[in-house]
Amino acid sequence: MALISIRISDNKLEIVNQLLLPHVTEFVQIDTIEQAHDAIKTMKIRGAPAIASLAALSFSQHLSRALQASPLPEYFTSPEALKNNVEPILSFLFTARPTAVNLGAATRRLTATLNRSISQGKTTRSIAQDLIDEGKAIADEDVGRNKAMSKWGGDWLFDRVKSGGESAEKGLNVLTVCNTGSLATSGYGTALGLITYLHETGKLEKAYYTQTAPYHQGSRLTALELKTLNIPAVMICDTMVGSLFQHFNIHAVAVGADRIAKNGDTANKIGTYNAAVIAARHNIPFIVVAPISTVDLAIESGLDIPIEQRPPLEACLVRGLLFPNDGNSEQAQVMITPPGLDGIYNPSFDVTPAELITAIVTEKGVAVKGEGENIFDLTPVV
Ligand code: MRU
Repeated sequence: MALISIRISDNKLEIVNQLLLPHVTEFVQIDTIEQAHDAIKTMKIRGAPAIASLAALSFSQHLSRALQASPLPEYFTSPEALKNNVEPILSFLFTARPTAVNLGAATRRLTATLNRSISQGKTTRSIAQDLIDEGKAIADEDVGRNKAMSKWGGDWLFDRVKSGGESAEKGLNVLTVCNTGSLATSGYGTALGLITYLHETGKLEKAYYTQTAPYHQGSRLTALELKTLNIPAVMICDTMVGSLFQHFNIHAVAVGADRIAKNGDTANKIGTYNAAVIAARHNIPFIVVAPISTVDLAIESGLDIPIEQRPPLEACLVRGLLFPNDGNSEQAQVMITPPGLDGIYNPSFDVTPAELITAIVTEKGVAVKGEGENIFDLTPVV
């Protein structure tokens, strides 16, 4: 059974606290917009699609509860009053994390629904209902498109390797970075979805993944997902990518994306660029797997992508269980640097230039470098 990042049961919206994984599975109830914002900002939930889903669902929950209240809240007296209530909420949710475009795409989509329903002359009740439905749709659509892009990318990659005459009798060896599976999305995953698809269709030999310091989304979350899915896998430290390529037959690197600029430059977890540079040195295909909504056509190149700087202290800490463990120890955070360091650089993401990317896979298909008019033709088909 795959892991989940968000669940709704008995009308309660809950997330798995990813700060405590893999050792402790704690569901945290999200009751308010402020709690959703805090969970995203503090990375209790993370991964570009998952944070957009939580923002959208918490927004739907806010309006569902308002609709059930008796009497209705005062902001239901007119469409303008409703607009004045919900627009600041969407703006606030948008500020939780800056790099992943999905959060902005979700809040913009909800704003568009709001304006459309108002212009159609609907009542405040039906405007609110439209927004509730749209918020749920944002979260629900994620799984289907993840499966679509995983299949597109998995089949394309397997055929490419085989037609290149490379040996892949036992299946492909694919390296990934960070965590892009069920925990980072509403289900199945993007790059980890592609790896899962290869495994399910008998086309994977092994998944390799970096630990992904300093937050260790690889060693804490991807490790847990691959183990849960029984996918053969090998963890490497972030510094071992070059050594891996020198000593093992790696067929591809597959990563997710937080934002893709119009020219194909891609922001993803810190360390992705390093892996892309070394992959190019070894002629290993480098594939980005992300929904079309991750493409930000308003941004010409990666230079314009805002890069989140995380608190310096986060780079000084590792979290987990004390080892050896007496069975009673609580989850702990351990400082691995001298206290009081004042020079710490801790960007959460880096940008891989389009020239290092072999293909971008979305739910619409595979955009291969050089096949379009631009390096990548990322214009949405719909
Ligand atoms: O800081 P995080 O853990 O939210 O970063 C996550 C990533 O960089 C993922 O690779 C990206 O969001 C794609 S997730 C399907």
